[in-house]
Amino acid sequence: MDRFLIDGGRPLAGTISTSGAKNAVLPVLAASLLTSEPLLVPGAPILADVRTMLEVLGSLGSTSSVAEDGSVEVQSAEHTSNVAGWEYVRKMRGSVCVLGPLLARTGRAEVSLPGGCVFGVRPIDVHLKGLEALGATIRIEHGFIVAESPAGGLRGGEVFLGTPFGSSVTGTMNVMMAATTARGRTIIQSAACEPEVVDLGECLIAMGAKISGLGSPVLEIEGVEGLTGTTHRVVPDRIEAGTFVLAGAIAGARVRVEGCRPDHLAALLDRLWQAGMPFEHGADWIETQSCGLGHRPRPTDVTTQPYPGFPTDLQAQWMALMCLADGVSVVTERIYPDRYMHMAELARMGARIRRQGGTAIVEGVDRLSSAPVTASDLRASAALVLAGLVAQGQTEIHRVYHIDRGYQEIEKKLGALGAQIERTRE
Ligand code: EPZ
Repeated sequence: MDRFLIDGGRPLAGTISTSGAKNAVLPVLAASLLTSEPLLVPGAPILADVRTMLEVLGSLGSTSSVAEDGSVEVQSAEHTSNVAGWEYVRKMRGSVCVLGPLLARTGRAEVSLPGGCVFGVRPIDVHLKGLEALGATIRIEHGFIVAESPAGGLRGGEVFLGTPFGSSVTGTMNVMMAATTARGRTIIQSAACEPEVVDLGECLIAMGAKISGLGSPVLEIEGVEGLTGTTHRVVPDRIEAGTFVLAGAIAGARVRVEGCRPDHLAALLDRLWQAGMPFEHGADWIETQSCGLGHRPRPTDVTTQPYPGFPTDLQAQWMALMCLADGVSVVTERIYPDRYMHMAELARMGARIRRQGGTAIVEGVDRLSSAPVTASDLRASAALVLAGLVAQGQTEIHRVYHIDRGYQEIEKKLGALGAQIERTRE
């Protein structure tokens, strides 16, 4: 396994580019199951999760190729299997996105139950409820979801996809994909509004689907006979961009994040403004202003919400910034109440954080110190990298495979800003 060695305290400055969104490219690749024609995704991010999705699709009989620049072509001309095995789904929960399109295309899908992860149970009840609303019969057998369409194929229906924590992103994606070729009209109430859902919907429309309401909680899908291939460049990764903006903020540096969508990061920019961290932005860039390594943010509370609220995927990274605030801030995690694995690791670096249920109380300190720490999940790893950038001494981050799942060569991108991050073999 790899680890990062980060020499903290180096001044950062420069420009960093944003990759395509991981959480958009995964469902877009799964959507290739809905047609026998090729689907081209230019400039896809080069990530472990993208490779895993292509492995899952390959296990179903799809063929794919990846160019040097990351562009992916995938074609599901025929199926050799209807089973997405545990070996893939346990590696990446996003594999569950093949469930809806595989069922719609072939009439049967067997997908391993994704199980939980380090920050919670991660149920998929609304995925199954949505597919049942389209006429599917669903059984759970030996750890697998076994979904079957009725004899005449899926039919349109109406379904409420809300969960106690808001809407389900991949639940909305699965049902939306399955509904594109169902007979008749489908109405999805309490659909997720995340930009990645909108991006998938736009790709499906380019493939011939009839979808309205994208970006709103009510989606209407008019079923069509079949879908064609298309070429679709995914939306920039708002979580990667937000992570790099927070890297600039925590280092008090001038960092320009290009090729991003500031309009997808309004909640983060609002909190940064509240914390007194200077920045500017244009239509496709955000630039933090240099205010010196010792500049401490104002303590600023966040509560994670479904989009357009503060994203749960930036909660850990925000907490890293608040560890250095000039006062006490409150971080409330409303999407995954247990998503606090990063707290203990940040505490090893001198952070003062205590947990009360789904809330963390962060008492800012004036400096962090380096320590050996362990990454536990994708976004917690990013928080540890941010802390390592400003901690005194050399921070060792173990199990960085977590970070490789969602950040394309993060050590090279931050290295280009002046960070000293070395990747070594454990
Ligand atoms: C997507 O996960 C993202 N993953 C996650 O990003 C992200 O944290 C999450 O949305 C929330 O924004 C991908 O898109 C691949 P949910 P997803 O279904 O779809 C509850 C990352 O770091 N729920 O929107 O699995 C659930 O427990 C990853 O890139 C149900 O109760 O999340 C949670 O509390 C981590 N029943 C809330 O809804 C269900 O059937 C949101 O979950 C489904 C979800």
